[in-house]
Amino acid sequence: MITIDQDFQQVFSRKPLVVAAPGRVNLIGEHTDYNEGFVLPGAVNKQNYVAVAENGTNTINLRGNRFSGSFSFSLDGIKPVKEWANYILGVIFHMQQRGLEVKGVDMMVDGDVPVGAGMSSSAALCCATGFALNELFGFGLTKMDLAYIGQKTEHVFVGLKSGIMDQFASLHGKAGHVIKLDCQSMEYEYIPFDFPDYKIVLVNSMVTHSLASSEYNVRRLQCEEGVSVLKKYYPEINTLRGIDSKKLLAHREELSEVVYNRCHFVTTENERLLQGCELLKKGDIKGFGVLMYQTHTGLSKEYEVSCKELDFLNGEARKYEAVAGSRMMGGGFGGCTINLVEASGVDHFTEGIKSAYHKEYHKEPEVYVTQIEDGARIIS
Ligand code: GLA
Repeated sequence: MITIDQDFQQVFSRKPLVVAAPGRVNLIGEHTDYNEGFVLPGAVNKQNYVAVAENGTNTINLRGNRFSGSFSFSLDGIKPVKEWANYILGVIFHMQQRGLEVKGVDMMVDGDVPVGAGMSSSAALCCATGFALNELFGFGLTKMDLAYIGQKTEHVFVGLKSGIMDQFASLHGKAGHVIKLDCQSMEYEYIPFDFPDYKIVLVNSMVTHSLASSEYNVRRLQCEEGVSVLKKYYPEINTLRGIDSKKLLAHREELSEVVYNRCHFVTTENERLLQGCELLKKGDIKGFGVLMYQTHTGLSKEYEVSCKELDFLNGEARKYEAVAGSRMMGGGFGGCTINLVEASGVDHFTEGIKSAYHKEYHKEPEVYVTQIEDGARIIS
């Protein structure tokens, strides 16, 4: 039960505007967004909340409920900080950069999107903040504007050159649907995820890797390196989007092994996604699951963003007949695997994977049985 409304009133003695923005899952299409490829995310029933009210000053006062600490910052000369407040400051800064006048506010933050689990807790925080301030001050920004503000916050305030998937999903999510987003044209299509016999189960390895953002940026550069070579033959391309795995193969000798592997993963991942959407539309969840396993192998062996714990969880999932597909999800180096599990087999799977993981790594993975919900919205 979320009590941010009452908590805010107790601390700041007036009624706030409360908004929620969810974390996301991504069924398939990993590390494709910043290569202008396709992704297939959905917003989930775990969200971050922001409660906010004007305070008539030039100061922003922040309180975290789950996030510890309270902070005050002047609205003049906003700069990055080390704490979670960074995400909020980044959003305000980028609103100011657009010439929007953010006034002094009291703000409280809470939520249950696990941090460092690859479920986009930070994007949910940025989107909740942007959504709330946009509403409070009537800025008239679109969801897409808010998504770009969140992405710029990651780039400039956090130093992670992320794609647009997480923010897009948190804002545009629709209950019962995944979103096929073309990250080149930004056109999107809602695809029903209508499988009452299956659950989307996340298994959190509880590993948060400190190299995640630097390695992420390296992957991005390696893809760009591939494009710079391929561009000689395909001058029209600016990203890997214009390349399929056949065209890539023809130039294998001109790329280093690492760069070829990275590009091969991205091109085949886009191909899997397109095929996967057709399978989902036909109701073929088992066929879709096979593609998820292939994605995991590619992420682990070619893109090298997995880790031994995620590979272990993936290997365990393969042992269950009730599991249609499983793979690591999100940026990598830790976080969750996403598993499509027959509803009747979820308990058996959960118990089994928890105990196997505990035996191997002496820690307890958290398991989340998720539902696909609406994106960011006003709560009260
Ligand atoms: C992180 C980034 C996204 C996306 C995924 C990998 O979640 O924020 O933009 O690149 O990793 O698919």
